[in-house]
Amino acid sequence: MTILDGKKTSETLKKEIAEEVKQLKAAGKKAPHLAAVLVGDDGASLTYVGSKVKACEQVGFASTLVKLPADISEEALLEEIAELNANDDIDGYIVQLPLPKHIDEQKILLAIDPAKDVDGFHPANFGRMALDMEAFIPATPFGIMELLKRYQVPTKGKHVVVVGRSHIVGRPISILLSQKGAQGNATVTLTHSHTPNLAEFTRKADIIVMALGIPEFLKGDMVKEGVTVIDVGITRLKDDTSPKGYRIVGDVAYNEVSPKASFITPVPGGVGPMTIAMLLKNTLLAYQWKDL
Ligand code: GUN
Repeated sequence: MTILDGKKTSETLKKEIAEEVKQLKAAGKKAPHLAAVLVGDDGASLTYVGSKVKACEQVGFASTLVKLPADISEEALLEEIAELNANDDIDGYIVQLPLPKHIDEQKILLAIDPAKDVDGFHPANFGRMALDMEAFIPATPFGIMELLKRYQVPTKGKHVVVVGRSHIVGRPISILLSQKGAQGNATVTLTHSHTPNLAEFTRKADIIVMALGIPEFLKGDMVKEGVTVIDVGITRLKDDTSPKGYRIVGDVAYNEVSPKASFITPVPGGVGPMTIAMLLKNTLLAYQWKDL
């Protein structure tokens, strides 16, 4: 069994990006600049955005955190977006989700300049990705593809079962794995809450991508010997024995599933750190594509 070590791989990636930034700066150019918009003070979102800003510092990017009150109007948020679109110094930015209920998320995502949309959530980027065109690929599926590539996990002709059809993970990863290319050429089944007898699908799968958000949902008896398992779950479970008061649990019952797996991502330290590294990668791409 090989552990797909996202922490180690993300560190390697960050070193590679830092090296490119060093060369840009040595050539007298400005560093790539990522901005993050955070509305409200949701604990998990604060942590995620904090990690993103810290990662920028690690690789020598400039970063800006735009912190806005939870009761900001949709109109005022759209004005902030317009400013970020117009600001030439900012190469890419993200609007951390979820947004407060009174704001139409779709309207906000549509207002982001696709050339700065380093989350890859704008329909222009999603459409371009689906049509094999150059695009910003959402960081989580992009990170999964990069892990598969760096560990040379075979995908050609394999049967992939994706569990969960979210716009951020399940839907895009199902497209990417079925596309032509070194980490693609798989036969993909996209399953979701209305799939009957899910275990019948997962038991036949060569590769399972769990993106459901239900802790330890995938049990040992739901997979075959030799399976590759990608666990995208990051549920916070209350845990008074931990200093933070919670622990992060994936969608996979790791102790049951890992003995049967040929490759598996741990939680934490699997897909999560890759997501942040790929956001940096997308920001570097935004910087480079601007000059094309
Ligand atoms: N909320 C959960 N995941 C993400 C992400 O990848 N990007 C943004 N902007 N918000 C999120």
